[in-house]
Amino acid sequence: MEENRIAIDRDLCNGCGLCITVCPTGTVSLLDGKAAVSREESILCGHCAAVCPQEAIRVTAIDEEMSRYRTFTAEKSWLAPGKFSTAALVQLMASRRSCRCFTRRPVDRAVLEDLIKIGITAPSGTNSQAWTFTVLPTRKAVLSLAGCIAAYFGRLNTRAEKTVLRLFLRVTGKGELDAYYHGYYRKVKEALDEWHGSGKDRLFHGSTAAILVGSRPGASCPAEDALLATENILLAAHSMGLGSCLIGYAVAAMKNDPSIGQAVGIPPEEAIHAVIALGYPGEVYQRIAGRKNATPRYFEG
Ligand SMILES: Cc1cc2nc3c(=O)[nH]c(=O)nc-3n(C[C@H](O)[C@H](O)[C@H](O)COP(=O)(O)O)c2cc1C
Repeated sequence: MEENRIAIDRDLCNGCGLCITVCPTGTVSLLDGKAAVSREESILCGHCAAVCPQEAIRVTAIDEEMSRYRTFTAEKSWLAPGKFSTAALVQLMASRRSCRCFTRRPVDRAVLEDLIKIGITAPSGTNSQAWTFTVLPTRKAVLSLAGCIAAYFGRLNTRAEKTVLRLFLRVTGKGELDAYYHGYYRKVKEALDEWHGSGKDRLFHGSTAAILVGSRPGASCPAEDALLATENILLAAHSMGLGSCLIGYAVAAMKNDPSIGQAVGIPPEEAIHAVIALGYPGEVYQRIAGRKNATPRYFEG
């Protein structure tokens, strides 16, 4: 119970009511001129504590350790809208590239742990924060996962080679294997041949670490939450000198074969939404790459 409490120091509270205006769940109200918790319901977002000029409110579920980083010092003060350089932000965002050539340099655990703390500054549906992070801190660990995924795709390719099976499944309304055969089979076969032949790693691109972002059951928006945290990690990784690459093949394999997650210590009830390959990049770009056209549609009402 202590974990989920909003603690208000009535001696410090000056009754300004700011906490009431920012609370999304109407949890706080004024009682005898002082803020008080007047209903159970709360998403424990901490807005009341963040807005209080008297520092009279504490949300006990919020872990201060999560805002302390080991590899850098973060400003504690709140940056008001408009107070950050958009140009700097966009340059960072546009400079992040999927890295497909990592050096052998390992990534410190402190860096990986800081990345996760940066990840969880993301919003989450009803503030559930039901995301999970599994760290593969070494090349050895990445190779273990890569081996499981290669085995999965080997089995999938063997199935996809069976023309009669594919066509039978397609006519019975299960066209996934046939779609896989036409979309991916050849590319995957090439990559698997290289993996088993020269040992070239076209799955994790030689990365020396990885973070798997998942969700616990019960979150209102599990995939969205995990992917928002993921984007934070990608951007922060770039700012910290790391390269990153999302590995969708790994996510697909883990969705279809839960034993892969279990092999790296992920409980069966967790879903994996992103696999991020991380390491020091062995590639340098001369300029920012652009994007295809994305013209917005307007609805004027
Ligand atoms: C959901 C998702 C899955 C991806 N899976 C892979 C993958 O398995 N292997 C890979 O090399 N790149 C993968 N990528 C990286 C994309 O190819 C890359 O984001 C895209 O080409 C744009 O390039 P950029 O990330 O450098 O801006 C994935 C990206 C996303 C968003």
